[in-house]
Amino acid sequence: MEGPSLSTLVDFAVDAAWQAGRLTLAYFQTCLTVEYKEDHSPVTIADRRAETLLRNLVGERFPDHALLGEEFGSVGGTAPYRWIIDPIDGTRSFVHGVPLYAVLIGLEVSGKPSVGVAYFPALDEMVWAANGMGCYWNGRRAHVSPQENLERSLLLATDTESFASQGKNDAYRRLVDRVAEHRTWGDAYGHILVATGRAEVMLDPVMESWDSAPLLPILQEAGGTFTDWRGVATIHGGDAISTNRHLFPEVMRLVAG
Ligand code: IPD
Ligand code: CA
Ligand code: CA
Repeated sequence: MEGPSLSTLVDFAVDAAWQAGRLTLAYFQTCLTVEYKEDHSPVTIADRRAETLLRNLVGERFPDHALLGEEFGSVGGTAPYRWIIDPIDGTRSFVHGVPLYAVLIGLEVSGKPSVGVAYFPALDEMVWAANGMGCYWNGRRAHVSPQENLERSLLLATDTESFASQGKNDAYRRLVDRVAEHRTWGDAYGHILVATGRAEVMLDPVMESWDSAPLLPILQEAGGTFTDWRGVATIHGGDAISTNRHLFPEVMRLVAG
C-alpha cells in the first residue's frame, strides 16, 4: 500500500504525544474539577483538551486517516490508517497529582497495530515502537527482562479489586502466590515497565482498544508479549497481559487454571 513510511508516522506520533503531554502538565497538580462519565470513571478538561489537540494534529497532517479517541469517538470510517488515542491514560493518577499517567497513541495500518507511543509527561519518559523498527525508551533501545523464573519476578496490576468483578480473581491469586514481588504500578505504566525490563508481568482485566493500541507494538518490539487473557495478540480483546515472553507460557497456564 502506498502511503507515508512508518518512520514518518512514528515521528509524527512522538511529536504529537509530546505536545499533548506538555498541555496536560499545565493542569497537573492543580485543583481541577473532576467529572464522572457513565462508567463512573473520572475525566477532566485536560483529557478533553489533550484529545482535541491530538485530533487537530492528525486532521491537519493526515486528513484521510481515521481516528478513534476515548473522549470524542470515531471519525473517518474504514480508512486503512486508523489512529487510536487515549489522551490521558491513568486519569485517576492524574487527578491525584501522581505522575504515572500517559498520553497514548496507536496506529493501525489495514487493521494491524503498527506504531505505538506512550509518553509520561510528568516523568518525561517517552516510549515508542514501530513494526520492524524496534522499541525505544528516551532514545535508547528498550528490551524486556531476561528473567526466566516466575519465583524471581515482579508482577504488576492496575488495582487489586477489578479482578473479582471480572471473574478473574482466582487467576490473579494463582499468579500472586508464585511471584517474588507484587505491586500496583498500573494503567499503561505497568505494561511499559515490562517493555523496559523493569517488571516481568502486567495484568489488566479491563482494557478498551485505546488503552491497548500502542502497547502491542511496544511490547512486541521490546521482545515481549502483549495479548488478551486467552493468549491472542490483539488490542481489541477487552483485557490484557504483558510478559517478558520467557514467562508467557507459564503465565498463560496459571491464568487458564
Ligand atoms: C484506565 C486504564 C486501566 C484500565 C481501565 C481504564 P483511563 O484508563 O487504562 O489500565 O484497567 O479500564 O479505564 O480511564 O485512566 O484512561
Ligand atoms: Ca486508558
Ligand atoms: Ca483516558
